[in-house]
Amino acid sequence: MRGKLMIGNWKMNGSLAANASLLTDLLADSVDVYCRSAVCVPSLYLAQMQSLLTGTSIALGAQDVSAHEDGAYTGEVSATMLRDFAVRYCIVGHSERRQYHAESDMLVASKAQRALAAGITPIVCVGESLAEREAGQTEVVVKRQLAAVIHANGHCISEIVVAYEPVWAIGTGLTATPEQAQKVHAVLRAQLQVATAHADRVSILYGGSMNAANAADLLAQTDVDGGLIGGAALKAPDFLSMLKTASR
Ligand code: 13P
Repeated sequence: MRGKLMIGNWKMNGSLAANASLLTDLLADSVDVYCRSAVCVPSLYLAQMQSLLTGTSIALGAQDVSAHEDGAYTGEVSATMLRDFAVRYCIVGHSERRQYHAESDMLVASKAQRALAAGITPIVCVGESLAEREAGQTEVVVKRQLAAVIHANGHCISEIVVAYEPVWAIGTGLTATPEQAQKVHAVLRAQLQVATAHADRVSILYGGSMNAANAADLLAQTDVDGGLIGGAALKAPDFLSMLKTASR
């Protein structure tokens, strides 16, 4: 059994004070939380969060990683640097990076490779835009995005986490219906099955306006193994409620 995995993506939010306060609130009421969980924080706060999360059941995650090992890449953070801060997960290919930083499928695949080489689990994001969905291209797009990562990572592919995040659902309040999510997750699972005998080990998360009200229905789907949560992960009561839902 995969068990549920719930990950908060804080994006470019937080401060030393706000992070400490959010974490205090999360840990104060975590009695019924048994699912796997993590928070992906801005790089500058990895040291703070490493210290605050030590001894807790919440793992530490980053939001991006360089495709390069080291060297003259101003502003970038390498996978081995992330490892120094006990980072367990790293988001790669989030649609905000694909969109605002022109990240290609190839680059995302290289980032996943760097993370895996450093012993960090990449959370590979895939998802279609509204125009692509309306043009009936959803499956083509997500399969193309995942294919690049499968191609670059060969037998390690069962070590990744996949997040299906329809771009039109991110931060918009629009959520894929549980049926829409399941349909795409099943396509991704089938694609992984062709690549590895261990596809059933891969957690496929849903992301895009997941919240305390819709989490249960989404998580009830066969191939929805958890969530990658943005806005609702910044509110302790909401994130806790979702962690508890995933623990049932
Ligand atoms: P929201 O939950 O705010 O829609 O963000 C989803 C997301 O992009 C998580 O990576």
